[in-house]
Amino acid sequence: MKLHGTMKIENNQLLIGDVSVEQLRAKYGTPLYIIDQTHFAEQANVFLTNFRSEKFQTHISYASKAFSNLYILGLAKELGLFLDVVSGGELYTALSAGYNPEKISFHGNNKLPEELEMVLANDIGRIIVDHYTEYSLLSALAAEKQKKVKVLLRINPGIEADTHKYIQTTGKDSKFGMSIADPVTYVLLKDMNSDPWLELEGIHCHIGSQILDKEFFFREAAAMFSFARNLLDDYSIIVREINLGGGFGVYYTKEDQPFDYAEFLAEYIVEIERIITELDLTIDTVSIEPGRSLINASGSTLYTVGAVKQPYQGKPFVFVDGGMTDNPRPALYQAKYEACLANRMQDEVTDNYRVAGKCCETGDILIQDIALPQAEPGDLLLIPGTGAYNYAMSSNYNRIPRPAVVFVENGQSHLAVKRETYEDLIRNDQKYFADNSMQKL
Ligand code: LLP
Repeated sequence: MKLHGTMKIENNQLLIGDVSVEQLRAKYGTPLYIIDQTHFAEQANVFLTNFRSEKFQTHISYASKAFSNLYILGLAKELGLFLDVVSGGELYTALSAGYNPEKISFHGNNKLPEELEMVLANDIGRIIVDHYTEYSLLSALAAEKQKKVKVLLRINPGIEADTHKYIQTTGKDSKFGMSIADPVTYVLLKDMNSDPWLELEGIHCHIGSQILDKEFFFREAAAMFSFARNLLDDYSIIVREINLGGGFGVYYTKEDQPFDYAEFLAEYIVEIERIITELDLTIDTVSIEPGRSLINASGSTLYTVGAVKQPYQGKPFVFVDGGMTDNPRPALYQAKYEACLANRMQDEVTDNYRVAGKCCETGDILIQDIALPQAEPGDLLLIPGTGAYNYAMSSNYNRIPRPAVVFVENGQSHLAVKRETYEDLIRNDQKYFADNSMQKL
């Protein structure tokens, strides 16, 4: 297993942020999401220091859908990251964490009227408009509230990046944004540009997620900046800001060969500067929206092994005390992960297992094939690379409480999200009474 961030081995035990995972089990129980705070801060700095230009401003906007709670957003704010949110709930979390509204962009392909009202009431920095109906609704609401609002239009540049089809976003039939090839896109941009309540700052795109070939990002930038040039030439629309989205791929297993982010970001800036000069454009701000590449490698999930079961046929199972409820990605995207027995890091690796969760679901297999030392009940199984889209997509299926989230750094651990309790599970439930007496109250 690849050791990420501050992970290291001492006395056969795995340590993260100089805290042994055995200590974390003793203090917080399992399953447990562990975030390497030092690594997250370092990763944010890789983006903040390398995606920089003398010619335009740059914003690194953390895509909070990857992992959002008050603690991580407080940290992201302190590090100087801008923020991308896609729902009223993500916006509420960001505002509750004290985020400067001006640094927040609001996304979504079906923003609810009450979400748009929330955006207007809180003076959120940017709305990324998705389509015509949304624009009309936003314009009417802004006029009603007498509030000017800054907007970008989400453009689909038609670059089909090589990734799982569920996380591709730019096919011609995609539900996101307006196609660069669609004549309606130009009508919409003209209307947005002349709307007295909207300030059209520019355009946005996001070509997909977990993209491992950097060439797609260069093609995306070329397409977006030349689109901006066309808008100026043909419609006198001035694009001041271009947001190029996220999608930078990460390491899950040896099958993934991510590019070096520092190197890529520096090259990306040079290429963007070259394109801008070549097209003779004046651009004030270029933004990117990394989610997974900022947080994934900082996160791990720690489980306790309950049993090792040899089925009548096939590879043996290691049963863990979590599963698809804390990590639905293998079931959803056939995602692959590495793992280790964190209490026996240097024991000889002898056996091949499947790691299965505790849900009543055949598909609740976290790893289909992993070589480990001979596993026993009570061992600690750790899956690294679970920072992004794990806690964020967790569920209470089978009424399983969500695990706690703990941040570790320099020998300290900080509880960021408490473990859910059984009481939490029924908090919003209403009891049944045969005569409906409760409902009548
Ligand atoms: N910007 C926009 C507009 C997006 O839609 C997304 C991700 C991002 C930025 C951040 O992308 P990232 O840098 O994290 O790749 N649940 C899936 C991933 C869905 C991504 C959705 N949009 C998964 O677990 O793989």
